[in-house]
Amino acid sequence: MKLAIIGGGGFRVPLVYGALLRRRPFDDVVLYDVDPGRLERVAHVLEGQAAEHGDRVPFRTTTDLDDALEGADFVFVAIRVGGLEGRTVDEGVPLGHGVLGQETTGPGGICFALRTIPAMLDLAERVARLAPGAWMVNFTNPAGMVTEALQQVLGDRAIGICDTPSALCRRVAAALGRVPEDLRFDYFGLNHLGWLRAVHDGSGDLLPGLLADDELLASLEEGTLFGAEWLRSLGMVPNEYLYYFYFSADTVDAIGRSARPRGAYLLEQQAAFYDAEPESPPEALRRWRAAKDERDRTYMAEARNGHTPAPLSDDEPGGYEGEAMAVVEAIRGNTGTTLILNAANRSALPFLDERAVVEVPCVVGAAGARPLAVGDVPDHARALIGTIKAVERATIEAAVTGSTALAIKALALHPLVPSVTAAREIFTEYRERLPDLEERFA
Ligand code: G6P
Ligand code: MN
Repeated sequence: MKLAIIGGGGFRVPLVYGALLRRRPFDDVVLYDVDPGRLERVAHVLEGQAAEHGDRVPFRTTTDLDDALEGADFVFVAIRVGGLEGRTVDEGVPLGHGVLGQETTGPGGICFALRTIPAMLDLAERVARLAPGAWMVNFTNPAGMVTEALQQVLGDRAIGICDTPSALCRRVAAALGRVPEDLRFDYFGLNHLGWLRAVHDGSGDLLPGLLADDELLASLEEGTLFGAEWLRSLGMVPNEYLYYFYFSADTVDAIGRSARPRGAYLLEQQAAFYDAEPESPPEALRRWRAAKDERDRTYMAEARNGHTPAPLSDDEPGGYEGEAMAVVEAIRGNTGTTLILNAANRSALPFLDERAVVEVPCVVGAAGARPLAVGDVPDHARALIGTIKAVERATIEAAVTGSTALAIKALALHPLVPSVTAAREIFTEYRERLPDLEERFA
């Protein structure tokens, strides 16, 4: 079975390769990237992993996209159009207006999508031509919008994944002293905009007990992030990305007090890894692990007030590579496993139309991912989902058509953008600082 990894020089590719070594679903793995230097650097890390593992899953690298895609059974895509330089602009411009500057939430996510969607649509056309039977597993952010755009070309063969819903479920299970496999998680929303509203074990909902218990909540990442009182007010546990909505002004202040926004920090942190002199595979692996630990430790620092998230090891189950592997195994084995994925709504959330891509538990088998019915959700969540879906759709259409009016509409409709005037100013500045965007929206 052939796997093509698009964005093969990406920093998280060794996580995927680690999962491939452990679970071995593919005998042909091709890493594609536009940047041969990054590809070579990551290939070294992979060789280090294979040596450490004492066994190798064969892989090769290429800068020829068609070569990578031809006949692939699965295509994993994690690309960053415009690189981390683009991310610094996405985040920096709104911050200059006192508005949240974040990679996927708020204006940053809209600008990121405007850059990314055209490239992803080209890629989807190529996949349809060269690997018509392939499943495209998308990790590219903003994953919800990107997956909805991809489905215009590939339909249900494009599936979006994110590590945050399953990570939330695992943490909640741990706080409850249970294993996630024994529980049913009632989670709903859009990518980076979801809530866990119930946890069933067959005899009842365990969430109210968790929400009532200060000590248990203190052991939960989301308890520290949102505070017990706010979680009890909601009666649900929100995805960590909801912090940017519920505590948006606090985030802007915290970033203002920090040395620099996340993208600017990563630009330097990642360059230190990628620009190092060529070294032996074990040394490259050691250096990648150190860079990854540092990246994990500082994740969402602007929301954590000095508190560092629990460390993750690179062979832990889960993570986005664990989700991707679970999708592959569920499709290949036609298992009917339930996974929280980005897929077309059908009627899972009855207040959205059937083509809207949502992030909900899906039953996954040989025919793809079928969302489970969610039904009614609390009013405020429903309203926010509806608003953000409207923003996402205006963004997708703006990306496809190059319409400035639609881009400004998307920005202005976003609840974190305070006015149409601010939306106009932010978009003007984005265009000034991103020549490709200026060209597309000329
Ligand atoms: C989480 C999200 C991803 C996002 C990442 C950002 O894992 O689910 O969608 O890309 O965080 O992490 P970073 O280290 O780039 O800030
Ligand atoms: Mn994500």
